[in-house]
Amino acid sequence: MRVVLVGAPGAGKGTQAKFISQHFAIPSISTGEMFRANLAAETELGKAAKRYMDAGDLVPDEVTIGIVSDRLVQRDTGNGFLLDGFPRTPPQAEALSKLLADRGTPLDVVLELQVDSNEVVRRLSGRRTCRTCEHVWHLDFDPPREPGTCDVDGGELFQRDDDLPETILRRLDVYAEQTAPLVDYYRDAGLLQSITAQGEVDEITQLAIEALESALRR
Ligand code: AP5
Repeated sequence: MRVVLVGAPGAGKGTQAKFISQHFAIPSISTGEMFRANLAAETELGKAAKRYMDAGDLVPDEVTIGIVSDRLVQRDTGNGFLLDGFPRTPPQAEALSKLLADRGTPLDVVLELQVDSNEVVRRLSGRRTCRTCEHVWHLDFDPPREPGTCDVDGGELFQRDDDLPETILRRLDVYAEQTAPLVDYYRDAGLLQSITAQGEVDEITQLAIEALESALRR
């Protein structure tokens, strides 16, 4: 199954991507995570992406399309993939469509996670990530037993630089301007499934799996 997950910052894409990719046994590919990994490794790509990410802006299309194109030729994508956070602009959507058409493997479904903006701000301002295992926690919704420490491996928890209040607002504006139009684009293409992504994480996972399975049966 080839699927794109779309939704505002903090809609829960990363949280749900983990469960969906396990359920369907496909790799989850997050452009945000790829950029953060490059940042941590201090690569040229990471250094170039940092100033856009810190400002809440999108990394330029040619860079982003390049890393996704390289990733999608890897063997583990043979049975499908889940893209989390890509495409985010019309040129990225066009590039993905062309890449997949050239391979004869078009997208099966685009799943939209719908969350209101107050919830998004609450989720992003309370998000904390483990520095070593990268497990994502939330101060209110899913707090670790020991404040500041990951339950999984005892690692230190940190707040992402782009989860500071002014950057969250900028990311929401960027989403509305540049990414939200893709929802109509994929609806027109007959690929869109939308679910409400507020409530308990496992209930949303269930809804997501049902929506994807129903799309595959069409
Ligand atoms: P990216 O990492 O993709 O960030 P994002 O889209 O802003 O999404 P987030 O990771 O912030 O949120 P999420 O939806 O994954 O939510 P999560 O599951 O963590 O991108 C970062 C940056 O990289 C971009 O700003 C851009 O600069 C660059 N970039 C990336 N892709 C790009 C592209 N294609 N083009 C150009 N630039 C690109 O959940 C959030 C919190 O809520 C967590 O604490 C979680 O525990 C909690 N939570 C989740 N679900 C629930 C629930 N149901 N109830 C309560 N809490 C919940």
